[in-house]
Amino acid sequence: MKSIVIQQPNALVIEERPLPSPAAGEVRVKVKLAGICGSDSHIYRGHNPFAKYPRVIGHEFFGVIDAVGEGVDTSRLGQRVSVDPVISCGHCYPCSVGKPNVCTSLVVLGVHRDGGFSEYAVVPAKNAWVIPDAISDKHAVMVEPFTIAANVTGHASPTEQDVALIYGAGPMGLVTVQALKGVYKVKQVIVVDRIDERLEMAQRCGADWVINNGNQSLQAVLEEKGIKPTLIIDAACHPSILQEAVNLASPGGRIVLMGFSSDPSQVAQQGITGKELSIFSSRLNANKFPVVIDWLEKGLIDPDKLITHTFEYQHVKDAIELFEKDQRQCCKVLLTFSE
Ligand code: NAI
Ligand code: MN
Ligand code: ZN
Repeated sequence: MKSIVIQQPNALVIEERPLPSPAAGEVRVKVKLAGICGSDSHIYRGHNPFAKYPRVIGHEFFGVIDAVGEGVDTSRLGQRVSVDPVISCGHCYPCSVGKPNVCTSLVVLGVHRDGGFSEYAVVPAKNAWVIPDAISDKHAVMVEPFTIAANVTGHASPTEQDVALIYGAGPMGLVTVQALKGVYKVKQVIVVDRIDERLEMAQRCGADWVINNGNQSLQAVLEEKGIKPTLIIDAACHPSILQEAVNLASPGGRIVLMGFSSDPSQVAQQGITGKELSIFSSRLNANKFPVVIDWLEKGLIDPDKLITHTFEYQHVKDAIELFEKDQRQCCKVLLTFSE
């Protein structure tokens, strides 16, 4: 089989590898589609502190089960599946409180262990979630990015009365907009970014109001309209955003952080405690695959609005370079593997 391997930072090769056999409790997935994410580019460029090389990247993938390991029912052969990249132990403290996404021995496919940019991938059977026939392949490959939004909103418990502000109209901001509008019917969803084309995508994803803070102060624009967001989600992830979010938030509001920056954020506690703000963080997803599959079945979200490009996997280098260079035109870029 062919696999996309990052041998070391900035060295991507398409390598011939032996077809793997699923171990006990595992299935083998013949990959059909995979999505490129910022973290794939970070591993490729050597900017992901968790990555070990060589590595088959890719944690957003969909395919068909074509072999099962010992102890896995053969009825699973032929199932169309999307793969949850979060592998957890099931018995540590975080696992015991419903946070397998921060398991003390967390393994993420495509980061700590070989992932889905490959003609075949072996994964734990319980990570391979069956996709109902009514959900298309292209929607199925988008389950993982939407699980990030499901995890964020799971913490924030949005209501229809919320006035939500989302920083960043990249893929993560856009999945969050769709969840807030489509699933939670939030009254007002505001999106802020520096790139007009991305803000236009946010509008197509359901944002009620978009603000470009490249040339004007977000605070001034919101103050002028007397708006104090009750829910703020940082999907732009610059360390300076936390202090601004604390300033902008309504008393009693919630803030959700998604960033992994190692630079400190400066923030005065008075602003947080004075308004009794709740600050959550969200990493990956905790058992959100069934949640998103349900959203897709009910038509509450539309992944097509995020997919801007599709490449055959042989052209993965071009695909990643386009994804990195063209933030105006690119959102989700897919790779096709087998037919
Ligand atoms: P992206 O880089 O495509 O999008 C970020 C957007 O934020 C860009 O459009 C950029 O113009 C905008 N932006 C940057 N600074 C801004 C500011 N000060 N104000 C307004 N807009 C600003 O990235 P993507 O894929 O959407 O991911 C967003 C962030 O989420 C990344 O930092 C990534 O590391 C993080 N992430 C976190 C996850 C988690 O589970 N916690 C999962 C996936 C991504
Ligand atoms: Mn991703
Ligand atoms: Zn665990």
